[in-house]
Amino acid sequence: MQDKVIVVTGGFGVLGRAVGDAALAAGASVALIGHGEANSALEHDRLLQIGGVDLADLAQTRQALDAVSARFGHIDGLANIAGGFRWQTLEGGDLGIWTEMFRMNLLTAATATAAALPYLRETRGAIVNVAAAPAKNAKAGMAPYAASKAGVLRLTEGAADELKEAGVRVNAILPTIIDTPRNRSDMPKADFSKWVTPDQIAQSILFLLSDEASGVTGAELLVAGRS
Ligand SMILES: NC(=O)c1ccc[n+]([C@@H]2O[C@H](COP(=O)([O-])OP(=O)(O)OC[C@H]3O[C@@H](n4cnc5c(N)ncnc54)[C@H](OP(=O)(O)O)[C@@H]3O)[C@@H](O)[C@H]2O)c1
Repeated sequence: MQDKVIVVTGGFGVLGRAVGDAALAAGASVALIGHGEANSALEHDRLLQIGGVDLADLAQTRQALDAVSARFGHIDGLANIAGGFRWQTLEGGDLGIWTEMFRMNLLTAATATAAALPYLRETRGAIVNVAAAPAKNAKAGMAPYAASKAGVLRLTEGAADELKEAGVRVNAILPTIIDTPRNRSDMPKADFSKWVTPDQIAQSILFLLSDEASGVTGAELLVAGRS
């Protein structure tokens, strides 16, 4: 990833940080963008942190990507990681969850893609969208989240087709439950050793962003560990 510039949305979350760390270790320059604040403990000459950005807002997201280009000169990869999960049944549930999940998981990815495209066209770059395994099969209480992540798969498919002549590749990763502190505290009796780790997912994302995956676009990659 030497000389590549990788933008990570949701860059202050668990997976976003893991992708940022892995990309830096692989020699890339990295921009972490999202809610949250820059962390001075992470400072690095190849790292730009842009906090306080609502990635569902096009003007804010464009401004952030312009700042990345101004700092590093070009953008080669976009990892759309911003998102979140809420469990809620239909019966008795607040229907506002549907717009919340779509905004958080799908509109953020669509917005960052639209904002990054002028730069990715120049470099014939790549995008990886983080969906989730339930995008294929929702259980009770998962419908709003799963539907929004199914939307991420259709975004991936449509964008891959739209951009193939431009040489911009677009792929999706579908993680199962990730080994995060929040999941450990929410599911204390689970066998954590079966869960996929943030670093394992980060390596899969970096592969899809790299030139080694130059023939891969429109793909959906399940990353499940041993779960
Ligand atoms: N954790 C899992 O088991 C799991 C499994 C499958 C897929 N995934 C997906 O993997 C991705 C990362 O998950 P994670 O566990 O790393 O979650 P996380 O730690 O909560 O990180 C997600 C980050 O995205 C940010 N974000 C959400 N909406 C945003 C917006 N509109 N503008 C800017 N930033 C926004 C969040 O900021 P705030 O928290 O400040 O809003 C947070 O920093 C998500 O897309 C998630 O759906 C996770």
